[in-house]
Amino acid sequence: MATTETATGACPHHVGFDPFDPEYLADPYPELGQLPSVCFAPGLGMWVLRRYADIEAVFRDPQTFSAAIVQDPMFPLTEAARTELGPNFPLPKTMSNADPPVHTRIRRLNLQAFSARRTAALEPRVRAAAEQLINKLPGDEPFDLVAGLSYPLPAFMIFTLIGFPAEDTELLKSWCGNRMAFSWGHPTPAEQVEIAGNMRRYWDYCTEFVRARIAEPRDDFTSDLVRVHLADPAQMSALEITSVIYGLSFAGHETTTNLTSNAVRRLLENREQWKALCADPSLIPNAVEEVLRYDTSVISWRRITTKPVQIGGVDIPEGAKLLLLLGGTGRDADRFADPARFDVHREDAGRHLAFGKGTHFCLGAPLARMEARIVLELLTAAAPDLELVPDQRFDFPPNVSFRGPQQLWLRRFVEVS
Ligand code: HEM
Repeated sequence: MATTETATGACPHHVGFDPFDPEYLADPYPELGQLPSVCFAPGLGMWVLRRYADIEAVFRDPQTFSAAIVQDPMFPLTEAARTELGPNFPLPKTMSNADPPVHTRIRRLNLQAFSARRTAALEPRVRAAAEQLINKLPGDEPFDLVAGLSYPLPAFMIFTLIGFPAEDTELLKSWCGNRMAFSWGHPTPAEQVEIAGNMRRYWDYCTEFVRARIAEPRDDFTSDLVRVHLADPAQMSALEITSVIYGLSFAGHETTTNLTSNAVRRLLENREQWKALCADPSLIPNAVEEVLRYDTSVISWRRITTKPVQIGGVDIPEGAKLLLLLGGTGRDADRFADPARFDVHREDAGRHLAFGKGTHFCLGAPLARMEARIVLELLTAAAPDLELVPDQRFDFPPNVSFRGPQQLWLRRFVEVS
């Protein structure tokens, strides 16, 4: 168990918080509830925040709290991994790790391309793809929902939105794999080199893809950005488009896989709430919000201070790295009544900070919400008798930010008399 006692010594705010501790990975919430509201974790070299009010204030002040580090590896890269990445890395900061004015310019153009029209137009395709995957799930034996549905669906949808050819899906998924470990995990030197090689190949693929769209734009998200570029290259360069595509294909992927898996897990653990959704599907959108509050799939995010600040009465210097425990914000009793209770009827569930707030508010939130809603609509209608395979152990990938079970075993409900 990671310790949370205040260390004796020079700084009373130092604690032994370790987000890679197996017990924390399996269930972070008991420790999140015990941590001081602001503390320093020497093992990470980061200040750790967990209160809703503090983290909301950080998100609302991009001048003081820069996003520059959000994609950086948590731990230093080896020389061999740097070499393997090649000369194109580090990539230009364009979205999640950019600050104004670059971020403001690029985000505005992305919002146009990521329009409500394009997201809504995806709904029938999300539904059709989900139906196809659900129809392949076995009815008479246990199956892993992650492998069968919650992993392939978001990957397919984000690649479709971007415009990647369907036949490249498996290749792209293999290159995307482990980017999570690279920037948010603690990979071994050998793993760093392997992932770096995949990242370089994936970057080269995106570069070629954008080049092809510039030569011949189509009806997809990438082509929308390309049209802006062709009208005025100063608005957005080809390199910036490539960087956006590279980032988006990751952001739109595991986050939503984990949301879907967390949703099905939590609903089936609270069977009466699953049944409520089966009886009244209009509860589903709020149930998705409650999952994001109660067990979010992006459990932490990062910032770096641009000047000395005080948070919760604690002095924090300029250049301090902050780990924002979003998982803590959803369980903050100062913000949510009885926060450890999972309740799909909770009226203020949607006030969570799972998608951030303000300048960098998640661009893919409508898509993620739509995918989770459709999966729940289809599953509750097709298999109201689903249940978790009893006594299974959930494993979570060892990283600080992205959280969802790697396998989720389900079966049809067996009545016991
Ligand atoms: C459950 C699913 C998801 C969660 C929990 C989530 C969470 C987040 C969070 C916490 C941020 C950072 C906000 C900040 O820095 O203030 C973010 C940013 C972002 N997300 Fe998501 N995300 C999800 C799904 C998606 C999807 C599906 C996409 C794309 C299709 C996406 C694209 C982005 C992008 C591009 C940004 C950066 C926006 C900016 O910097 O302006 N996300 N997301």
